[in-house]
Amino acid sequence: MRFGTDILRQADTLAAFTEEPPGVTRTYLTPQHRQAGDCIAALMREAGMDASYDALGNVVGRYAADRPGAPVVMTGSHMDSVRNAGRYDGVFGILTAIACVRDLHRRGKRLPFDFEVVAFGDEEGVRFGVTLIGSKAMGGSFDPAWLDAKDAAGTTLREALVAFGGDPDGWRALDRRGKGVVAYVESHIEQGPVLLDEGLPVGVVTAIASGARMRVEVTGLAGHAGTVPMGSRQDALAAAAEMVLAVERIASAPGEGGAALVGTVGTIDARPGAINVIPQVVSFTVDVRSGDDVARRRATAVMRDAFDAIATQRRVKVASEVFYELPAAPCDASLQDAPAASVARQGLPVRRLPSGAGHDAMVFPPVCPIAMLFVRCGAGGISHHPDETMTAEDAEVATSVFLDFLETWTPPNADDA
Ligand code: GLV
Ligand code: MN
Ligand code: MN
Repeated sequence: MRFGTDILRQADTLAAFTEEPPGVTRTYLTPQHRQAGDCIAALMREAGMDASYDALGNVVGRYAADRPGAPVVMTGSHMDSVRNAGRYDGVFGILTAIACVRDLHRRGKRLPFDFEVVAFGDEEGVRFGVTLIGSKAMGGSFDPAWLDAKDAAGTTLREALVAFGGDPDGWRALDRRGKGVVAYVESHIEQGPVLLDEGLPVGVVTAIASGARMRVEVTGLAGHAGTVPMGSRQDALAAAAEMVLAVERIASAPGEGGAALVGTVGTIDARPGAINVIPQVVSFTVDVRSGDDVARRRATAVMRDAFDAIATQRRVKVASEVFYELPAAPCDASLQDAPAASVARQGLPVRRLPSGAGHDAMVFPPVCPIAMLFVRCGAGGISHHPDETMTAEDAEVATSVFLDFLETWTPPNADDA
């Protein structure tokens, strides 16, 4: 096997850089981020690329074109993870691209474009709540207000960047708009069961779903768990429980215009947090997604109205805010056809499918057309879970498809660049 076995072995090596063994937990600007970044930079250099960290802790590898002044094609994915993650989400997209460069370099082949492979420092947004920090800087949508966002320990993004050796003011220079980038094409594990169920190793993404993140705080009244009669309570956690179920109910029905929705309460915290005290303050987060921005916005508003109604009925207070929104990102119709043709040249059916998960690619449309290749996810399609898996055979097919794309695609202005 030319690529698959090595890629899975490298993913195993990266999985060891974790904050909480034995699972993979690697959040932004941590020592484990540094370990993974150093390992990826070494792989990039060994494959024939220049590689360095940028101001926000992304590792950027570059394989120079066969001519000066050529356009740039970008790829990449993220090296951070959720808590107790699998080992392929993000990492696969980085390793498959490095494998392609290693092969090209070994054959002495240059491309008609500079090929940039980026290992983004933050996509998941676990540490600071804001997702896609590295890629947003490159896509021109970094918000400097995020520099004041704090992690659970109260460290700001600005402080964490300085401690990492980055530059909190360096984000401006990372903006790739108008810098000759003609395509961004990312490979990623599917993180769902569609390809697995259809017996296909790879698929071509049509669009990436939009998302919103909300913070909700419910305030009731603490009291003695043994003395306050049930009918007199203002229990913030019981009210929050009803709100969680409202999220589930609203997201389970079709959204505006019949669009599919998903809604998740992924974190919840109850204070004061004692077994014999009625909870006074409960905070939780909501993640709402849809392929349709209008449906997602409408569902978010309906959820907030439901929270208000539940709070009134239960005599508690509620405050909710949407602190982060990402619009849906359609993949470029014409650029999508290039990896699709590469899939067909491998003798495989071309399956097109949307992505419910977010990806670094989704913030690049202001820079250039985007496309994505999905690889089959094993174990029922589970992801954001340690059981996430893929086979070396599928990694091999996906890397061959990507390499074929790189060697056959002609950038729009390659000849006059
Ligand atoms: C990232 O994986 C996300 O979709 O939240
Ligand atoms: Mn993920
Ligand atoms: Mn991912």
